[in-house]
Amino acid sequence: NMSEKDGFPFYMEKEMAEQPRVIARMLEEKTTEDLPDFSGEQVPDSLLTSCESVCIIACGSAMHAGLAGQFLMKKFLHIPVSVEMASEYMYTDPVVDEKTLVIAVSQSGETIDTLEALKYAKQKGAGSLAVINVKGSSIARESDAVLYTNAGPEIAVASTKAYTSQLALFALLVARMAYVRGDFTETETRDFVRELKRVPDAMEKVLAGKEKIHHIAGRIISAKDIFMIGRGLDYFIAMEGSLKLKEVSYIHSEAYASGELKHGPLALITEHTPVVAVATQKQLLSKEVSNIREVRSRGADVVLFAKEQLMPEEEEGYLTFELPDVRDEFMCLPAAAALQLLAYYVSSDKGYDVDKPRNLAKVVTVE
Ligand code: G6P
Repeated sequence: NMSEKDGFPFYMEKEMAEQPRVIARMLEEKTTEDLPDFSGEQVPDSLLTSCESVCIIACGSAMHAGLAGQFLMKKFLHIPVSVEMASEYMYTDPVVDEKTLVIAVSQSGETIDTLEALKYAKQKGAGSLAVINVKGSSIARESDAVLYTNAGPEIAVASTKAYTSQLALFALLVARMAYVRGDFTETETRDFVRELKRVPDAMEKVLAGKEKIHHIAGRIISAKDIFMIGRGLDYFIAMEGSLKLKEVSYIHSEAYASGELKHGPLALITEHTPVVAVATQKQLLSKEVSNIREVRSRGADVVLFAKEQLMPEEEEGYLTFELPDVRDEFMCLPAAAALQLLAYYVSSDKGYDVDKPRNLAKVVTVE
């Protein structure tokens, strides 16, 4: 039904298009005069100040959002932060106690692995905060406090707006934590939030460039295996980009931290192996560029998604897409939108039912 999809052929495209609005609205809702403010959702600051470590628990795309959240927390809060795959968590004898804040991240709020892991941590005395999209869901009810992403219903199995709203919410949460824990001054917090508020426009620009990404998708459509590479935050974006491509286009895509390529996967790079590289982090650019040269010299077909300011000099033979500039820590949002579009076009050009990938379910209530 085209009308439910606002004229888009698939929910996935509709939901990708909604992202700038969803995130802009969330950032307005959860800030007061550019300071993060969770009083509307009754998240007590004591929950955010009393912990000495953070443990993020999730599955799938929500876990990938957690990895970006972890990166920001380590950078700005200077405390130990781990990300745990919910299905593995309780079988690995985790160190968890009253000084741990567990953050459960879930679109549906019903993923059984995440719920069980949360219950386990609570039993050990951990404080808990849930980052959830669906109001009143099981994980929301089980947690001490809830922050809602309020992305609206997500129908496509492959998560898009729920995932990026989790990324944005993590940035806001980090800002609040840094503010109340004394890592940020009020001015630093406001500057951080103001920069974050530029993200919806940057995502809008990526969406406006969708035909260029559609063209890039043509490079990948007939591949069997591809690699997505990046360093730091870009690695986590590559992980989510790879998951999206697997889910909707059935192409095997492996995300690799660029520096780790030489320890194995480089053996698989031959003439015309597609390699999607993400480069949005200034500090890591020169190393990333040399990793790209490495794969190019083995014949790889490179597609580079880079922050506009950081785009290296045009080199022959590879496709590029410029990602609009926002602060490096927030580049994961426009970058994620670009890789979502890439997966989407590969899938729809192959004639697949983008919204309903085989074998997958939107909500997973089996362990
Ligand atoms: C399923 C969905 C994924 C999702 C994962 C976790 O596998 O297909 O898109 O990331 O579950 O779901 P949750 O609702 O907990 O975020």
